[in-house]
Amino acid sequence: MSEVEILVHEGLKATGMLDYASAITIKLLRPSMKLPPGWYAILSSDELTPYKPLGVERFGQALVLWRDESGAPVVMRDLCPHRSAKLSLGKLKDNRVQCPFHGFEFDTTGSCRYVPETEKPAENLCVDVFPVQEVHNLIWVWYGSSDKPSSDPPWFAELEEGLLYCQFTDLWPCHITRCIENQLDYAHLPFVHASTIGRFASISAKPEVELADERIKFRPNAEKNKVAFIEYRFPNIWQNYIKDGFMIFLAFAPVNETSTNLYLRTYYRGVAVPILKDLVDWFFNITNGIILGQDRSVVLSQGSASSLEASEERLFLSDIPIRHFRKRWQETQS
Ligand code: FES
Ligand SMILES: [Fe+2]
Repeated sequence: MSEVEILVHEGLKATGMLDYASAITIKLLRPSMKLPPGWYAILSSDELTPYKPLGVERFGQALVLWRDESGAPVVMRDLCPHRSAKLSLGKLKDNRVQCPFHGFEFDTTGSCRYVPETEKPAENLCVDVFPVQEVHNLIWVWYGSSDKPSSDPPWFAELEEGLLYCQFTDLWPCHITRCIENQLDYAHLPFVHASTIGRFASISAKPEVELADERIKFRPNAEKNKVAFIEYRFPNIWQNYIKDGFMIFLAFAPVNETSTNLYLRTYYRGVAVPILKDLVDWFFNITNGIILGQDRSVVLSQGSASSLEASEERLFLSDIPIRHFRKRWQETQS
C-alpha cells in the first residue's frame, strides 16, 4: 500500500467513517403524505418486468420496485444509503438489487449483502422496505405507521377471477382526495357527462346510500335501477357495477401531494379471442377515456390541494357520500 493510501485509510478510521455503516439505522417506514393507513394499489403488475428495477414516485417518495427470483415484487426506497444514488438505475444480480454507483448489493429485506471494496456485507446498512402484496394483477403497498399490516388488500367480490379486463392509466395533477370524491359524486352526471353517460341521468333521483367505516356504497338511481351501484373501498379502490359481467374499476395511486395516477379497468365477461379482444379493449378504453376526460377538466379546476383543506365548501344532500369520505379520511389519516 502506498503512503497516500495509508494516510487516507487511517484518516477514515480516525474520524470513525469506516464504522459509519455499522452504526446506521434506518426506520422501516417513513410516511411522507398524510393518508389513512392501509393497502394501496400503486402499480399494475404488467408495469414491473422481471428483468430490471423500476423507479416510481408514490406517497411523495421515490420508490424502487423489482422482482426477486421467484417473481415476487419488492418495494424499497429508491435511495442508496451509501451516497444517495437511485437504486432504480442499477441492475438485478443474484436476487439482489445492485447500486449503479459503487456496486453495493441489497437483498429483498433491504440489507446490504455485499460491498465491493470490502468484499463483505455491511452490517446494519439497509434500505427502507415496504410490505408488499401482488393480487388481482395489482401491486399493493402497505402504508402507515405500523409495519404489521392488519389485513389483506381490499377487493370487490363482483370482480371475480375469470373476467377479462382492459386498462389504461391517466395522471391527474391533483390530490388523491379530489380524484376519489369525483367518483362519489352522482350529481355531476347530467352536467359533466351531458353528452355521454349522464344524458338521461336525473339529479332528483333518490339514491340509496350505505356508509361504513371501510366502504361507501350507493345506487345513484335506485328507483329505476336496482342492479347498478357504485362502491368505494378505503383507501384507494372503486368500482361502478353496471351489470353482471360488466364493471368499471379504478385505483387511485397517490404519487405526491399534487398528483395521482389513475388506473382504470373495464372488467367484462367474454372469451379472449386475440384480435377480437384487442378491438373490444380499444373500444372500452377509448369510451372510458372520453368519460374520464370530462371528469378530469372539471376536477382540476378545483385546484390541486387536498379536499380536506377546502373548509369553505358547502355540501348539499347529494354530497352525503363525500361528507362521509372526508370524515373517515380525517379521522384515520396520519
Ligand atoms: S451510492 Fe450506492 S453504492 Fe455508492
Ligand atoms: Fe364523472
